[in-house]
Amino acid sequence: MSVAFDVTKPLSGTSFGATVRLARPLSQGIPEGLPAVLAEANGLMLIPGLQEIAAKPELLVKLSRAFGSEVEDYRHTLTSRSSVHTTVPEIFLVSNMAPVNRNPPRRPDPPTTPDGGLPLQYPHRKGWHTDQSYRRPPPDISLFYAVTPVASDRGQTLFADGTAAYAALPDRLKAKVDGLQGLHCQPGTARSREGALAGRKDIEQAPNARSQPQPVVRIHPVTGRPALYICEWGQMDWVDGPFVGLQPGPHGEGAALLDELMAHYTRPEFVYAHEWTVGDLVVWDNRCLVHAATWYDGDKEQRMMWRTTVRGNPGAIYEGEARSWLPREQVPA
Ligand SMILES: [Fe+2]
Repeated sequence: MSVAFDVTKPLSGTSFGATVRLARPLSQGIPEGLPAVLAEANGLMLIPGLQEIAAKPELLVKLSRAFGSEVEDYRHTLTSRSSVHTTVPEIFLVSNMAPVNRNPPRRPDPPTTPDGGLPLQYPHRKGWHTDQSYRRPPPDISLFYAVTPVASDRGQTLFADGTAAYAALPDRLKAKVDGLQGLHCQPGTARSREGALAGRKDIEQAPNARSQPQPVVRIHPVTGRPALYICEWGQMDWVDGPFVGLQPGPHGEGAALLDELMAHYTRPEFVYAHEWTVGDLVVWDNRCLVHAATWYDGDKEQRMMWRTTVRGNPGAIYEGEARSWLPREQVPA
């Protein structure tokens, strides 16, 4: 049997992740064995050269199905229609082009590190998160595909290895996070850190949009390895959280712990910065890493990225749970 792909580890400039080069076009068949490569690489995998997906978007959905039993259909999961692909509803559009009109992330202040480098570490770099952690059960895997990336040296996606970061935590912090739960919140609400700092009062949440507790240390259901599972600024609840049972609010004991954990999690030795090329696909495991988008000049550049989200194996602690984000009448029978 011929080899379906070639694996190079780790990704350049870091200690985790893998590059996978397929021997044949995806249209000739989805290769087997990719999830095992992803798990071995601590949840990050680059597959370059997939230009064929741009003309055949359904191939991205087919490939996504290799990573889990359910590929999210964004028509049924309370996603704005303007961010959903018109013919393939499993594809979420991340773009500053119409009709999506999503603004690029803010530029860090100052825009570079003191030695002129790309800021990676929190709090200089903000925006670190794991996809949809404000939902229970949360999704497993995301696939992110570059239809039209922006020029190199901006518009990167950063990834931090939650498995390595957990393993390197000092014992003092391991003892603090053991059994602790974070309270995760939908971004862009009054409960974001900025909202809480501004004293916004519109903190009521619909029953299907409530902040959700998640373990700060998740045991990966495939590898059995523990990994940090937290977000920061915009995707934790800064009114009742960021942690269950610790002093809440943006100035509390919980805030101090979150800042310490995120600064550790995003230390440069745990981070990979991906410079996008047309046709790149990056697959990541939301159960064991965080990611962040970097700035680009949205007035001068147009970007179009496609994302799918795969769910189905969040781990035993979520066994049998109803989906927190779906109103009961919308849950498929
Ligand atoms: Fe994301």
